[in-house]
Amino acid sequence: MRLITTKKELFDAIPRDLSIGLVPTMGALHSGHASLMKLARQENELLVASIFVNPLQFEALGDCDDYRNYPRDLDADLKLLEECGVDIVFAPSVSEMYPTGIPLVWVRTGVMGEKLEGASRPGHFDGVATVVSKLFNLVRPDRAYFGQKDAQQVAVIRRLVADLDIPVEIRAVPIIRGTDGLAESSRNQRLSPEERKNALVLSHVLNKLKARTIDIADARAELAQAAGVKLDHLEVVDPTTLEPLNDLSQPALAVAAIYVGPVRLIDNIEITNQQ
Ligand code: PAF
Repeated sequence: MRLITTKKELFDAIPRDLSIGLVPTMGALHSGHASLMKLARQENELLVASIFVNPLQFEALGDCDDYRNYPRDLDADLKLLEECGVDIVFAPSVSEMYPTGIPLVWVRTGVMGEKLEGASRPGHFDGVATVVSKLFNLVRPDRAYFGQKDAQQVAVIRRLVADLDIPVEIRAVPIIRGTDGLAESSRNQRLSPEERKNALVLSHVLNKLKARTIDIADARAELAQAAGVKLDHLEVVDPTTLEPLNDLSQPALAVAAIYVGPVRLIDNIEITNQQ
């Protein structure tokens, strides 16, 4: 496995006669990332993973505690990536990615980036779309892999490659959960044992929605009243457009975000009616 920190070195290191898989990450890797690497390893001849905590997708362009406190552990990440059979790790500095500072030209994600997560995190998806576009240009992958846990991110990136004609196949990889049901996330590291216990209400409520033992109003009420939890949003949406859905005979996703203490957690579940 080769660790690369500059764009020039990356460009030179990538052979053009092999199929290339890219797994973009912000590090703090866990079993959810390992499942992305595993699928990408199976489907491509060359596997590139990136580690870059992108300030553009954080509040105040990274001038915030969420960015500063974002977990970073390059040695542990490299160990996991080596075990997953990654060929090239691209881990640039902020100044390497954005040599002139905050970029002048961004990718705008419009209404898709403004709802749900985007309503609470203005500009977040523009930051994601901008850095992912840069990574696509630098690596020019055949396939790129994203976790389904970030369902809105998957939808926005699918729309990005469609709207900008970027020749890459987007692969969404199912959510990995702990044995307690909590969706794997780098942010889980910041939960105390009690907060982790409180956070479990999120997957429990989503499961009940899927099983139709509660409706959306009851689900919202349960999350709003749960101990140690603040509900941000819970919606049932079309997985492609993210538009709200009432007709559940078509593919539908229940998407939710809560705060547990200062930590924002997201999760989602497919709730399509089987009849
Ligand atoms: O999902 C993430 O970790 C990030 O949003 C991504 C896709 C690596 C872009 O910074």
